[in-house]
Amino acid sequence: MIKQQARADEQQTGTSRRHFFKMLAGSPLLAMAYPGLSPAWQREVDRVLARDQSASGRATRMVCADCGQAFQLPAMRPMRSSMPQAGAPQSPTPNALDVHLTGQLIDAPGDASNVWDFEAVAHANTLPQHWNYIHMGVDDFETRYANRAGYQRLSLRPKRLGPDVPKLDTSVSLFGKRWATPLFLCPVAALEAYHTEGESGAARAARARGVLQIQSHQSSQSYEAIAEARGEPHWFQLYANQDWDVNKRTIEKVAAAGCPVLVWTIDLIGGSNRELSRRSQGSEGYNRPLCQSCHNHQPGYQRPMHRGVQGPPGPRPAFDWDYVKRLKDAGKMKVVLKGIVTREDAELAVLHGADGVLVSNHGGRAENSLRGTIDSLPEVVAGVKGRVPVMFDSGVRRGADIFKALALGATAVGVGRPYVWGLGAFGQQGVDKVIALLLEEFTMVMRQARTATLAQIGPQSVMPGATPIMMRDNRQGFGL
Ligand SMILES: Cc1cc2nc3c(=O)[nH]c(=O)nc-3n(C[C@H](O)[C@H](O)[C@H](O)COP(=O)(O)O)c2cc1C
Repeated sequence: MIKQQARADEQQTGTSRRHFFKMLAGSPLLAMAYPGLSPAWQREVDRVLARDQSASGRATRMVCADCGQAFQLPAMRPMRSSMPQAGAPQSPTPNALDVHLTGQLIDAPGDASNVWDFEAVAHANTLPQHWNYIHMGVDDFETRYANRAGYQRLSLRPKRLGPDVPKLDTSVSLFGKRWATPLFLCPVAALEAYHTEGESGAARAARARGVLQIQSHQSSQSYEAIAEARGEPHWFQLYANQDWDVNKRTIEKVAAAGCPVLVWTIDLIGGSNRELSRRSQGSEGYNRPLCQSCHNHQPGYQRPMHRGVQGPPGPRPAFDWDYVKRLKDAGKMKVVLKGIVTREDAELAVLHGADGVLVSNHGGRAENSLRGTIDSLPEVVAGVKGRVPVMFDSGVRRGADIFKALALGATAVGVGRPYVWGLGAFGQQGVDKVIALLLEEFTMVMRQARTATLAQIGPQSVMPGATPIMMRDNRQGFGL
């Protein structure tokens, strides 16, 4: 009951925030208050006013209630709406450069030009603590930067003329199943923190586009609920408990539900320094009433994948390489190790029976290695020597990033934050558009490189970049 109420409240958060800005925008006090508002609030007010202005065709002039002085608001940039109301006047042409550079918010998934367009909207829709959790990189975020910078030091080598490229084939085989695309959705915890559709919304979008999805052990929804939304079993990611019996019961549960592949995340075993998350929790942590309403609303509350797997204390074996065999024996599933970034670990993983490795630094959220995953990929590929699939993630934001990772030997390429931005912005439709944008960009690069299949993308398709690259404008903290 409490949870339902909390959910309803959550659903209303975005709407009430917008109502609040609308009320502020309509208030005569705005004339006085506007200059003192933070840039983010000013943008929101601009946006509401611009929308009203473009709908009514009237210029906005505010009058101070106290002194009667007329006040012309600073220049406002009307937003384009992709869903015009019947009979509404035509919106003025948007200033595309402004939208591109100033982080104005899009109104609908169809308005997005790239995945960062969803980042700003998700930010506006999300509780600050939840936003800090997804935005956070360990220490001072350097590994997040390194992830992006890595792609920018790798150039493309296109092919200009040649025989016509027939219809592109982007399909890839993983453990006997053929996927339409090499793109996959990484496991990300607690997706209901970003949209009430949560993992199921992502599942429906991913399934419709033939995209593999890996569920987080910390998901907001159960394996069964997500698989039902998806219409087929998906992969499950495990954070191993010290107590082996807890793991065994978890594995048996997902195996019984049809899960074909277990992804064991091994890059947080020693902990990670998450300053932004700690800061945003403050001294109260989850104890403040707002957090309690979801995180701990009943005594003994647990996220779905941790329910029903407790029992009397069991053995606590070390997290060593023999653990891989334990996991395989427990579930009879394929086991992929997530978080491999060195050649030595890649060799050991294959030696100890891993069915695949996932090159990842957790999106800059594990140790602050200062090393982008695209820089780790070649040595992992060298260690694996083609014996098992090499999956890859962290910092992927463009179709060209996917292409570059495939060129260096990745079998499949994942995104974390981008699809959660899509979800946080517009639910399932946002995830769908994020996937569509990435795949459109990716296939354009394939055509430019005249590579008709993934097998034709190889080391000859890229080279180390020689020119220092200007990064995206990041003054507002977005764009990583
Ligand atoms: C908010 C958030 C939560 C995450 N939760 C998990 C998780 O529960 N399990 C896991 O293995 N990885 C988790 N990851 C890491 C992702 O699986 C993935 O490695 C990473 O997001 C890829 O980098 P990107 O976000 O730059 O695309 C999480 C990442 C983020 C941003």
